[in-house]
Amino acid sequence: MDQVVVERVTPRDTAALRQRVLRPHQSIEQLSSPRDDDPDTAVFAVREPQSGEVAATGSVRRESSPGDLADKADGAHAHWRLRGMATKEELRGNGLGHLVLDACVEQVRGRGGGVLWCSARVGAREFYARAGFPQAADAYAGADVGPHVLMYRNVEPS
Ligand SMILES: CC(C)(COP(=O)(O)OP(=O)(O)OC[C@H]1O[C@@H](n2cnc3c(N)ncnc32)[C@H](O)[C@@H]1OP(=O)(O)O)[C@@H](O)C(=O)NCCC(=O)NCCS
Repeated sequence: MDQVVVERVTPRDTAALRQRVLRPHQSIEQLSSPRDDDPDTAVFAVREPQSGEVAATGSVRRESSPGDLADKADGAHAHWRLRGMATKEELRGNGLGHLVLDACVEQVRGRGGGVLWCSARVGAREFYARAGFPQAADAYAGADVGPHVLMYRNVEPS
């Protein structure tokens, strides 16, 4: 796609794509979270130039990591969770996910850095590995969407 830019959007803007790609068993209303309006939550998206539809999205928010990541993460105190990474099926493999992920990393960098972690679906593990997230634990069963692995990386402050 030409002229793609990552923009900061609202969780509502990306709900349809997230619901279709990540949580088809839930309604759009069920995807909303009380933390959506939290100032430490940032949602990013790339839109298709013609239609303006959201083509890829991801978000980051301040949230403690599960397990012993704090010990592995060079003493960084702030923990940030990467969530809701999704690209339209027909647009995958074009670098859009990477652009969104970069925006999330920059958001953390600009807010003082720390440990950026995610609960990655096993099918997306390689995507995160290529973006510098080592795997931190064996796969575990997700509540309702299949096996996940805990992955993380350190983000230096800007
Ligand atoms: C994971 C996802 C968001 C990646 O989005 P994308 O726009 O296709 O990602 P990109 O095109 O930026 O890919 C970046 C790199 O990761 C690789 N990659 C992306 N998804 C991959 C996957 N599932 N398996 C292996 N490699 C993958 C790409 O080949 C690319 O490699 P390169 O940098 O060497 O060229 C997208 O595949 C998706 O929506 N998957 C379904 C939902 C999902 O599982 N989300 C993650 C929940 S934890």
